[in-house]
Amino acid sequence: MSIIFSGIQPSGNLTLGNYLGALRNFSKVQEGNECYYCVVNQHAITVPQDPQLLHERTRALAAIYIASGLDPEKSILFVQSEVPEHVQLGWIMTTLAYVGELERMTQYKDKASKRGDSIPAGLLTYPPLMAADILLYQTNYVPVGDDQKQHMEITRDLAQRFNRLYGDVFTLPEILLGHDGTRVMSLQEPTKKMSKSDDNTTATIYLLDNPKDIEKKIKRAQTDSENSVHYDVIGKPGISNLIEILSALTDKTHDQVTEEYAGKGYGVFKKDVADAVVAALEPIQQRYNQLVNAPELDDILEKGAAKAHAKANATYEKAVHAMGLYRK
Ligand code: TYM
Repeated sequence: MSIIFSGIQPSGNLTLGNYLGALRNFSKVQEGNECYYCVVNQHAITVPQDPQLLHERTRALAAIYIASGLDPEKSILFVQSEVPEHVQLGWIMTTLAYVGELERMTQYKDKASKRGDSIPAGLLTYPPLMAADILLYQTNYVPVGDDQKQHMEITRDLAQRFNRLYGDVFTLPEILLGHDGTRVMSLQEPTKKMSKSDDNTTATIYLLDNPKDIEKKIKRAQTDSENSVHYDVIGKPGISNLIEILSALTDKTHDQVTEEYAGKGYGVFKKDVADAVVAALEPIQQRYNQLVNAPELDDILEKGAAKAHAKANATYEKAVHAMGLYRK
């Protein structure tokens, strides 16, 4: 049995990238493991959020977790701000992190470059809080998309730094990457990752998009003029992205997809990609709509926070004792 932890920010509408890179892998590992899945709302506030929207999205994300296959009887679902040890250990991790290593994080550089002189300090100290999320549960594996590799490396570095200084408190976690869909790209600029925060909504498929919009967006996805379906990330990033999406949804290899569409045009291929996306998202949307306003969701999150708190507190107490950060 392993301990699994992952989190998603309620900072926008979830995308097909979030689903293929992270969410769909969460339920695959919940059998036989101890799993913690968190709505990381304290990470979301590292950039300004509208209070009402943040509140709504926190609940919506919890409903999406369940709608996409997490069973609250098997996995522990909770909201980060309801377990205070996250920010408490986050502060300790911040004191161990070096400004230089934080400044080298690509996610920080991307987000900071858009903010001129007013870069929130929390954007810089985001990774130590993420390390705390993971380390509090003595996590073995963290299912995430490819863009979180650097954050996982710094999490391991901080755990090792702490253990070297104060004794063996934290388990070293490993990244758990899926096979395909670990980096879904923008439909309009396929050299850029698909993102919740992209202003161009035609570049992104949202989990709650209706079938017509999904079809339209995929039909208009940027490709090339070759009209030949084969995988070549450098030469054909648009088509390669669509192959990756179809492979992820059908469990077919890139070669199988290429063979299947030999001699067929992009029109047929795109239609099939859209059908596969709609088929995957429709049942999730139905369950989501039943759940999002149900009082049952609050019960689940309250029980989840209590269980997460028990585990997090035990680790936190070990850490503060190891450091001498206590009185009695
Ligand atoms: P976030 O909220 O940006 O994304 C949530 C998950 O979705 C994955 N993802 C993608 N996968 C494939 N293709 C894409 N285009 C794509 N876009 C996003 C992300 O890799 C992620 O797994 N720092 C994290 C949140 C976090 C966290 C944690 C994760 C905070 N604490 C502890 C794991 C463990 C983030 O910004 O995810």
